[in-house]
Amino acid sequence: MTIRAVLRGVGHYLPERIVENAEFEASLDTSDEWIRSRSGIERRHFAAPGETTSDLATRAAEAALADAGLVADDIDVLVMATSTADLTFPSAATMVQHRIGMTGGFAYDIQAVCAGFVFGLANANALILSGQAKRVMVIGAETFSRILDMTDRGTCVLFGDGAGAAIFEAQEGSGTTSDRGILSVDLHSDGRFREILYVDGGVSTGTTGVLRMEGKEVFRHAVEKLAETAHSALDKVGLCGDDVDWIVPHQANLRIIKATAQRMKLPMERVILTVQDHGNTSAASIPLALSVAKAEGKIKPGDLVVTEAIGGGLAWGSVVLRA
Ligand code: UT7
Repeated sequence: MTIRAVLRGVGHYLPERIVENAEFEASLDTSDEWIRSRSGIERRHFAAPGETTSDLATRAAEAALADAGLVADDIDVLVMATSTADLTFPSAATMVQHRIGMTGGFAYDIQAVCAGFVFGLANANALILSGQAKRVMVIGAETFSRILDMTDRGTCVLFGDGAGAAIFEAQEGSGTTSDRGILSVDLHSDGRFREILYVDGGVSTGTTGVLRMEGKEVFRHAVEKLAETAHSALDKVGLCGDDVDWIVPHQANLRIIKATAQRMKLPMERVILTVQDHGNTSAASIPLALSVAKAEGKIKPGDLVVTEAIGGGLAWGSVVLRA
């Protein structure tokens, strides 16, 4: 008998305001054509004034509870991946814990930027496999619009706001890869690359700061490292690209997503795509894509799903799970 962390429910929330590419043409030397062709992004959502990351996360968490048919007190641990928490502390996770009415258990934030949700899945898996928790909610939520330099056309057109949540539950499996649940995890980071993607503010500067990115360099690392980590996660459990029903990639750039699928020898029909409608929502992008795909009836119970992401740090990784 093997314990598995099995996906029980998903949910998401996007702020009401949709910003089409064309809106940036009024203030920047850019075009809808450039943004679409270089990134695949057509639009993104921006939070309303005063709307915070924990606001978005609370809505996503409630949607995931409804999807799972559970109430907040059924959750033992709430792990929230974000780089845009409302305050320096307390954690956004504890704010969400309170707002959804979770009166016990514990909640904490993790920070692995765009790879945050994948790191959160690794946390959920470890907590469930070690017997410390029966049910874990992992949330990815961001308001990146608050940390964009709206005069930098190389970054501000790429990011958006949103939140997604997924609930995992301990269930018995057979110990084979036909089990439902998380089957494999592969995580990495390399602090040497801090300068190619970072926010230039924080406690050390006394400012919130804005995102700075050497896009071309990040692109190069992404194309190389994402297929590598996905292959390595599959290898660990004796699976290969052919076994994969769906890739749910971090939604940063359609060209990166295509290059990764190509390296994995998987057709784009097996890739969940939301980048065109959401832009890059950092830690929120994978749970948003998971939730949208489930709502569209694409990912079905028993499907083999690979998620992969890379972001500031650099930090990157991949998780293989059977839905
Ligand atoms: O979430 C994880 C981290 N993020 C990523 O994974 C993003 C990784 N990087 C990328 O997605 C791409 O590198 C970008 C979309 C950011 C840029 O695409 P690119 O094909 O690498 O373009 P580039 O940076 O080489 O820029 C090409 C040209 C430059 O002009 P020059 O120097 O060739 O004259 C840029 O100044 O495009 C210019 N440019 C723009 N032009 C119009 C940069 N941004 C814009 C813009 N509109 N918004």
